Amino acid sequence: MISISPSKKLEQLPPYLFSRINKLKLEAYQKNLDVIDLSMGNPDLPTDSEIVDRLCDTVKNHPRTHRYPQAKGMPKFRNTVAEWFLRRFGVKLNPEKEILAVIGSKEGVAHLCMTFLDPGDYTLVPDPSYPVYYNATVLAGGRAYLFKLDPQSGYLSDFGKIPQRVLKKAKIIFLNYPNNPTTAVVEDESFLKEAIRFAKKNNLILCYDNAYSEITFDGYEAPSILQFDGAKDVAVEFHSFSKTFSMAGWRVGFVVGNEYIISQLEKFKSFVDYGVPTFIQLSAVKALLEYERIVNDVRKVYQRRRDIMVKEFKKIGYTVDVPKATMYLWCKLPDKVTQGLGSLKFAEKLLVETGVAISPGVGFGSSGEGYFRLALVTADNRFHDAALRFDKVFKELGVKLK
Ligand SMILES: Cc1ncc(COP(=O)(O)O)c(C=O)c1O
Repeated sequence: MISISPSKKLEQLPPYLFSRINKLKLEAYQKNLDVIDLSMGNPDLPTDSEIVDRLCDTVKNHPRTHRYPQAKGMPKFRNTVAEWFLRRFGVKLNPEKEILAVIGSKEGVAHLCMTFLDPGDYTLVPDPSYPVYYNATVLAGGRAYLFKLDPQSGYLSDFGKIPQRVLKKAKIIFLNYPNNPTTAVVEDESFLKEAIRFAKKNNLILCYDNAYSEITFDGYEAPSILQFDGAKDVAVEFHSFSKTFSMAGWRVGFVVGNEYIISQLEKFKSFVDYGVPTFIQLSAVKALLEYERIVNDVRKVYQRRRDIMVKEFKKIGYTVDVPKATMYLWCKLPDKVTQGLGSLKFAEKLLVETGVAISPGVGFGSSGEGYFRLALVTADNRFHDAALRFDKVFKELGVKLK
């Protein structure tokens, strides 16, 4: 048996709480429990058939696409992104210098950390947040300073509280709206203007993760940070095909914005990967060309499911916030559950006893304790059952719902 320990950086990472849920989920399936999996933001909708057809045709009839791809993204991909960005956000991008293809935004964000961080450098990471910002910082040898997203202020961060000693050593600030896991959105644009000002003043890269920009409801339109004056001086923005086009398994996204940051990321990536396969890039082009039709349908599905689940919860006396965006509900646990079990143990109990899988809030950072995240990634007719199973566990725990 080989006995080489993994790197200190890898060992330093906290236990991945979601792997506990994944293990229990597997056990539940093995026991033939009727699992309702609402844990991961993994779209259950199939990718649009025209995109699938484009992939099949390309792979079958264009063998040149089987070769190594153009790592920064082929001109057709980057030009189509530029056209889409102009149509969608009114922002003009230079396809040569301000757009880079990534193998999903997770890869791009992780490599952004590795591109810019040296040991001792800080990143500024919202708490709670998508775990990659923290984990990639640590894997890059950096340190993450966690700043709290406060429900009282709509989960919009208060940068003013970040200490100077941290700011002096900080290189990247992460922001993500529409937000995972809290579902918060930016409605007051002064927040984004302030973020740009703050990043400029403190010489920070503003990494704006816009993975959910298109999953919005009730007429809400998510902005791009690049719409605001001065953003291109400091910001890059990540976009993903995973949620917008239900293409999570295809692994494709892009980053746009500051030319220098993008050139350095491109340089780093050239040492470790070959980019997005050409046939996937061409499929992504098709997706962007069909954007309106596909996204309207996707939005309708998540909005309908949101309304069903909120209503089903209401029927058992459990009131949750109605999100304007994302494919999640961010639900406050009854105080009795938070004080007794906490979010991880609650999620485990719910899964083991009823087969409903959710993500414990604490998995997104300590400020997520007292909440859970429910992903709307199952058929409409499953939410009724899911709510009844919550009801059963709440009753067992002696929780009195209104
Ligand atoms: C906020 C956020 N950013 C990025 C990602 C990753 O997206 P991709 O599939 O493009 O890597 C996710 C996935 O859940 C996410 O929630």
